[in-house]
Amino acid sequence: MYSEKVMDHFQNPRNVGEIEGASGVGTVGNAKCGDIMRIYLDIDENQIIRDVKFKTFGCGAAVATSSMATEMVKGKSVNEALLVTNKAVMEALDGLPPVKVHCSLLAEEAIHAALWDYAEKNHIKIEGLSKPK
Ligand code: FES
Ligand code: FES
Repeated sequence: MYSEKVMDHFQNPRNVGEIEGASGVGTVGNAKCGDIMRIYLDIDENQIIRDVKFKTFGCGAAVATSSMATEMVKGKSVNEALLVTNKAVMEALDGLPPVKVHCSLLAEEAIHAALWDYAEKNHIKIEGLSKPK
């Protein structure tokens, strides 16, 4: 049911943990299943994501998509990170079963929430980023 890449990221998730004094933290809940995800971003003065960590209370698909999403935003600018959509993450994982697609939304939403937190703290505006619900 799961691709090899999903199993790999589920069994060996990258970037698990937290960042003390993070530039931005985003916590989101999944309306569909109640699972929770938190993402920490460390962003340098050039708006490059230096480090990223995540924690989740969620299913295997949520773990795998977060792991992949954190790999995809690391080293990117905040604007490039906005282009890492749940669709892009799913493609990078060679797909998810249809019932698990909602799980992949958590990572995208948590990254956006963390970017929003960072923007608010630093009084900057990130083009194309809207306030998290
Ligand atoms: Fe939450 Fe899947 S319903 S772990
Ligand atoms: Fe809830 Fe996957 S995040 S079932």
